[in-house]
Amino acid sequence: MGCTIIGCGKQLPALDVPNEELTKLVDTTDEWISTRTGILSRRVCVTEGNVDMAEGAARQALGWADGGYSQCKVAPEDIDLVIYSTISPDEMVPTCAAVLRRRLGLVNAAAFDMNAACTGFIYGLTIAETMMAASAPGAPGAAGRNPIRRALVVGGERLTRVVDWADRNTCVLFGDGAGAAVVEWDERKPGILSWFIKNDDDHTNALTCPACFDAPQPFTPEGVDPNALQQADPSIALIDAELDTTERIAAGAPRQVLSMHGQKVFKFATSAMPAAIEEVLRRANLTIDDVQFIVPHQANLRIIKYAAKRMGLPLERFQVSIAHRGNSSSACIPMTLCDAYENGSIHPGDKVVLVGFGGGFTSGAVLYEA
Ligand code: ACO
Repeated sequence: MGCTIIGCGKQLPALDVPNEELTKLVDTTDEWISTRTGILSRRVCVTEGNVDMAEGAARQALGWADGGYSQCKVAPEDIDLVIYSTISPDEMVPTCAAVLRRRLGLVNAAAFDMNAACTGFIYGLTIAETMMAASAPGAPGAAGRNPIRRALVVGGERLTRVVDWADRNTCVLFGDGAGAAVVEWDERKPGILSWFIKNDDDHTNALTCPACFDAPQPFTPEGVDPNALQQADPSIALIDAELDTTERIAAGAPRQVLSMHGQKVFKFATSAMPAAIEEVLRRANLTIDDVQFIVPHQANLRIIKYAAKRMGLPLERFQVSIAHRGNSSSACIPMTLCDAYENGSIHPGDKVVLVGFGGGFTSGAVLYEA
């Protein structure tokens, strides 16, 4: 018995921005971007919000709309849980998950947002699987828990909101989108066979995006001071110092944007991805030869090629969807999974690995039987 994927979907915003267009913003070239990353264009939200895209993706995954992959049409009242991974929510409250739940009429679902950077969808699946297993009939303590039989797991990002469009090191890399999967606890199918999640310290702040809570605070360390409302929040300076952003922000860069030391992240990614794949295989007592298909995070084509080479696998065993999307953080894996189902790369009974890495540094993988 296990947590099985019974549907997935994706939605991208309308505007397609080819590399050439970015030369209007920063000193770059189509040749540099495409050869260093595999990215040719990315989709950018102008009028769409994060939840707008997630709604489209979820409707496909639930079998309510054309596109995507779904084994059946799921009734709205049959979804017990919504887990929404994002680093770029439309609002803090209500959560994206709550807004999505309301729009879809998922009247019985508990719903929450979560953030594990680009590995968020992997973390979300592991939470869904664990809650399903813990509440399954016969599980110790199940009677005291919400029964979670079906869950909607979303990765949705309006990442281009937190991009510094004057920073060529980052702005060429990212794009927007949302992907969703419906998972179901099935007594007859193995579903998720193993999973692995991990954090390594990002000692040098190689990947950061500060939060920006800028309501004036009428407090000083001595107590209430209405005049403090006029001054800068002193804790912001501490956060800037902790994240190494003081200099950049003093030079006029916006605060709440992604900042990245590409080579350090590259180095982390190329070791974390193979390590996570090896760990899920070890936990399931399988080898890479037992796996038919791999769905990796899409940050850079060179990272995927490196992982394939390191594992001795042809690139054809990996779904590669980066060319016209770029990196959309936690939305990448569910969108890429949807591509793999749509193009017929995943067949019933196949063993599939989803694998990702991201800021924090987070990493992880899920191994499941389709
Ligand atoms: N156009 C032209 N030149 C550029 C650009 C650009 N857009 N960006 C950087 N350069 C220049 C640099 O300034 C540097 O010039 P210099 O040699 O004169 O100093 C030169 O290109 C080489 O820069 P590198 O950083 O060494 O380039 P690299 O080959 O490492 O590629 C890249 C950079 C694409 C960012 C790569 O390091 C990478 O993909 N890293 C991992 C990124 C990643 O995975 N991020 C996501 C993780 S988490 C998440 O998904 C949110």
